[in-house]
Amino acid sequence: MKPREIKKDIYAVGAIDWDRRLFDSLIPLPDGTSYNAFLVKGSQKTALIDTVDPPFEDVLFNNLEQLGVKKIDYIVFNHAEPDHSGAIAAVLAKYPEAKAVCTSKCQTILTDRFMIPVEKFKIVEDKETISLGDRTLEFVHTPWVHWPETMVTYLQEDKILFSCDFFGSHLATTDLFVTDECQAHEAAMRFYAEIMMPFRTNIQKNLEKLEGYAVDIIAPSHGPMYNKPKIILEAYKNWVYDEPGNIVVLPYISMHGSTREMVSYLVEALSRKGVTVKQFDIAVTDIGKLAMALVDAATIVIGTPTVLTGPHPNVAHAAFLANALRPKAKFASVIGSFGWGGKAVEQLAAMLPNLKVEILDPVLCKGFPKEVDYQALDRLADGIEQKHREAGLV
Ligand code: FEO
Repeated sequence: MKPREIKKDIYAVGAIDWDRRLFDSLIPLPDGTSYNAFLVKGSQKTALIDTVDPPFEDVLFNNLEQLGVKKIDYIVFNHAEPDHSGAIAAVLAKYPEAKAVCTSKCQTILTDRFMIPVEKFKIVEDKETISLGDRTLEFVHTPWVHWPETMVTYLQEDKILFSCDFFGSHLATTDLFVTDECQAHEAAMRFYAEIMMPFRTNIQKNLEKLEGYAVDIIAPSHGPMYNKPKIILEAYKNWVYDEPGNIVVLPYISMHGSTREMVSYLVEALSRKGVTVKQFDIAVTDIGKLAMALVDAATIVIGTPTVLTGPHPNVAHAAFLANALRPKAKFASVIGSFGWGGKAVEQLAAMLPNLKVEILDPVLCKGFPKEVDYQALDRLADGIEQKHREAGLV
C-alpha cells in the first residue's frame, strides 16, 4: 500500500499483511493484519511513529522514499515487540541522524534483542513532550498493554492518539478508517481477548489515564484507525469493567460420544432456563473464538473424557489458555466421562489458579450417561442458573 495522507503532513506509511494467518505461532489471524507506521512532519522536525514487521521493511522504505523523506529526527517506538520494532536496526541505519524515542524499559528490551547501542536512544518520561516545530508529540506511559514497556503517543495539535497495540485489531483492510463497525468490533474484541484480557486491571488504569486527552483520531498500529474514537473506547470500557453476562462457555472434547452426549444435554437444559451457552469442540475450534467468548462469560464448563487418568490433552491446553487469559468468569465446573477411573477433575481444577471462580459440583459418568447422570446434569444447570441470579446477571 502506498503512503496515504491522514491530515496535512501526516501519513500512513506502514504495511498490510493480507496473508498472515498465525501470530506468535499461537494466535489465529483469520483476517490478516497490518503493521501501521505513521510519518509526522512538523515545521522543523520529522518523526516516524512505530515501524513494521521486518519482512515488510521494504514497504516502509518505499513509502518514505515516495514522500521524499531524506531525514528523520525521531523514530518513536511505542512498544518493543518485533512486529512494530523489529525494523529498528534497518531504519536507524537508513536514517542515521534519527534518535529512537521510547521508555527506558523499551530501550532495555530493544538493546537486549537487537543490540542497539544506548546512545541511539532518547528516553522519554511519562507525559514528556518533543516539539517538531508547529507540532508536539506527548508520550504517555501505558504499561502492560500488553508488555511492561508500552506507551502511546499523542499529537497535541491534531488530537491524534498513536496507540500501537492499544485499541488495535488484526484486520487487513484497504480502509484507512473503520467503515464496517461490526467487523471492526469483532476484530478488536478478538485482539483484546487474545492479547489484552490478562491485563484487564492495567488496561483500566490506562483508560482512566487517557480520559484527560481530547482525541479526534485513534491510530493503532494494527487494523484501521478510528475517526469516531467513542466506538472503541466504549467497547474497551465494556470489556474491562462490565460484569459478565448470563453466559456459559463450554469447551469440550469427545472421543467416543459420551462427553458429547453430556454436553448436548447440559446445553439443552441451560438453554431452556434462558442461559446463553457457547459450545466449542476444541478439536476443531478457532481458539480466538473461544477467547472472545470468554470475555463476557460468567461460567466456564469444561467437557472432557478421561485419557491416561487425566483430562484429554487438548482440553488441558484449552484450560491452560483460559487460565492464562484470566477472564472475568465467576463459576466453573467440569463434565465428562471415564472408563475405569481417573483424576480429570482434580487435574483440571489445579490448572485454573488464576481464575477467581467458585467450582460447582462436577458431573462425570462411567461409560455412557445414564439416568442418574442426566439428573446430575439437571442439578448442575439449576445450580448455574441460581448462581447467575444470585450474582445479578439474569
Ligand atoms: Fe503488535 Fe505487542 O505487538
